[in-house]
Formats: sequence, C-alpha cells, structure tokens
Amino acid sequence: MVKNAFFFFIMISFALTLSLPFVKEQESQPAEEIKLPAPEIETGIPLMQALKKRGSSREFSKEKLPLQVLSNLLWAANGVNRPDSQKRTAPSAMNCQNIDIYLAMEDGLYLYAPLEHNLKLILKEDIRGSTGNQDFVKDAPLNIIYVADLSKMTRGTDEEKSIYSAAHTGFISQNVYLFCASEGLATVIRGLIDRDALHKLLKLRPDQRVVFAQTVGYPKK
Ligand SMILES: Cc1cc2nc3c(=O)[nH]c(=O)nc-3n(C[C@H](O)[C@H](O)[C@H](O)COP(=O)(O)O)c2cc1C
Repeated sequence: MVKNAFFFFIMISFALTLSLPFVKEQESQPAEEIKLPAPEIETGIPLMQALKKRGSSREFSKEKLPLQVLSNLLWAANGVNRPDSQKRTAPSAMNCQNIDIYLAMEDGLYLYAPLEHNLKLILKEDIRGSTGNQDFVKDAPLNIIYVADLSKMTRGTDEEKSIYSAAHTGFISQNVYLFCASEGLATVIRGLIDRDALHKLLKLRPDQRVVFAQTVGYPKK
C-alpha cells in the first residue's frame, strides 16, 4: 500500500515536471480573443472641454492601456451606440460601416469586433515599429491601423470609394481624439505610413486598403 502511494507520488511529480515548461510557454502566448469589459458610457468630461483640449501629441509613455480604457476608447471610436439598429458612434455612407480597426500592441495585432465588443488575435507579433515612419510608434502602447473594406461599398467608382473611406476614417479618428482629450491620453493620426508594407504585414485582401494609422498612449512624463 505504502509502496503504491510512493509510486503514485513519483509518477505525479514526474508528470508535473514534464508539463511545467509547456504551461509556462502557454502563459506567455497572447489570447486568441480578448473580451472587453462593457464600456463606461457615464464617464468623460463635457464635450466643449474635450474640444478645447483636443490636439496632436507625439511623446508617449510606454505604459500599457488598461483593458477598461481600451474598451471605452474602442466604443467611442466606432462602437455600437444604438443596439436596435447596430449603428455606430461614427457615421458611414449608406451605413456601410466599412472601416476595420486593427490594434498593434506589444502582445500582437488584434482586430476590433464592434458587435461582440471584443478583440480577435490576427498576429502574435509586435508590429508596432512597422506601423509608421516616426520613431515614437515602436514604443507607444497602441497603434491603431484603419483599414477600409471596399467590398462593403457596393456603389461608386474606385475614387469615390477612397474618398468615402477617408471620410469614414476621419470621423472615427476624431472620436478617438476627443476620447483621448477627455481621458488625458496622447494621440496623433498618421498618414506617413508605408501602406503597401502594412497591407502585406496585415495579410489583407486586394479589396482592403490601409487608410491611416493613429498612435495612442499616456503622455510622456
Ligand atoms: C490626414 C492627416 C494626416 C496626418 N499625418 C500625420 C503624420 O503622418 N504624422 C504626424 O506626426 N502627424 C500627422 N498629422 C497630424 C497633424 O500634423 C496635426 O493634426 C496638425 O499639425 C495640427 O495639429 P493638431 O492636431 O494638434 O491641431 C496628420 C493629420 C491629418 C489630419
């Protein structure tokens, strides 16, 4: 009996020792899906004060954004504000909702899903440094990449689709600017980006277009 218990103990210890590196490796893997907490829609400063504070800033702290802040930011950017119709905080022509929000963070590249209000893992790499030609992008905690899905625009010429996609991105970006002004975050919209390189890196389809990027983080102290 004692011999059996001893044998059992040795086997369990052996199995645990073998599985330890595997468990450690799994812990360091980014999550395939990040469920965001419900957005806090009762917070924020009055709109006129946010407009007074709105501005571009290019000096960021490395401090990560808490999940609640990320949730609030994404909801403000282009979240569902009228659940009955699934319409968003930003307008879009014919309600085509053709802008996808990609998030380049240290843990990987994620895609925001507004209906589920969660993040889906796209790449397990830190691609922040490839989201722009300016030095600060590699260390700031979040670089948003706005991608237009032209397949969601059924009418219009290519030029019209580009114009509308840029306008849609502008509305979303300004929502981010105002949220950042309210939350004391630094941000800047960026057109100085290598769109072709990002298109490849994000593994986009030919009918998707990288429009702009936007860096977000706490101001450098
Ligand atoms: C479409 C667009 C593209 C921009 N591209 C960049 C950019 O690539 N890099 C950058 O540092 N700022 C960029 N900016 C930010 C502008 O330089 C900034 O908005 C302007 O200097 C006015 O400053 P403000 O935003 O503080 O009012 C861009 C702004 C817009 C609207």
